[in-house]
Amino acid sequence: MSDQKHWNKVYGAREEAALTWFQDRPEPSLSLVRTHAPTGLPIVDVGGGASRLVDHLSADGRDVTVLDLSGEALQVSRDRLDDPDAVTWVTGDVTAWQPDRAYGLWHDRAVFHFLTDGAQRAGYFATLDAALAPQGVAVIMTFALDGPETCSNLPVIRYSPDSLIAEAERQRPGAFRLIGDDRFVHETPKGNEQPFQISILARTAR
Ligand SMILES: C[S@@+](CC[C@H](N)C(=O)[O-])C[C@H]1O[C@@H](n2cnc3c(N)ncnc32)[C@H](O)[C@@H]1O
Repeated sequence: MSDQKHWNKVYGAREEAALTWFQDRPEPSLSLVRTHAPTGLPIVDVGGGASRLVDHLSADGRDVTVLDLSGEALQVSRDRLDDPDAVTWVTGDVTAWQPDRAYGLWHDRAVFHFLTDGAQRAGYFATLDAALAPQGVAVIMTFALDGPETCSNLPVIRYSPDSLIAEAERQRPGAFRLIGDDRFVHETPKGNEQPFQISILARTAR
């Protein structure tokens, strides 16, 4: 089954709030985005799924794009928002997306860790390189080294901030630097704990 079919099936079969990655209030994403997003520049939530991050950023009056492989997921958010047309929705693959403008903030919660193939990771960092404005910042959250080995029944690669920036350097030498890192533990709706790492990347001055 292709990844797109997998994700459409997942979002079509279960209520938003029953998904293991569901958050009623999307923290620490919201605080991080508000801290790091240069005012006036657009924000992109890659693999945003049905996340409620867009609700808050849209209410802040920010120019937000949500990209996801699953049109079903994006429809959940569209149906929930009062003004869905204020948001740009892209059904697409982050590893092959060709953005037509530059973003001040790239947000990824629990997407990069699904890219178990080197060519996918190369595509991801090529997209990030094309999408990020010169003063832009990328917030990339994945399962931490002590996190689960699978998510949504798919294998994942777990990272530390050091291993994530090392992978960025392998795929896009000299393009990005790590400007911050942190950790948090997500509690799933069933009460299981999932440790995440947070890597905050900026462009390297070239
Ligand atoms: C675990 S969910 C996280 C969703 C959202 N970021 C959140 O925190 O609620 C992973 C999401 O990544 C999306 N996804 C997986 N692979 C993708 C890809 N190659 N390009 C774009 N989206 C992808 C899935 O459709 C799904 O919505």
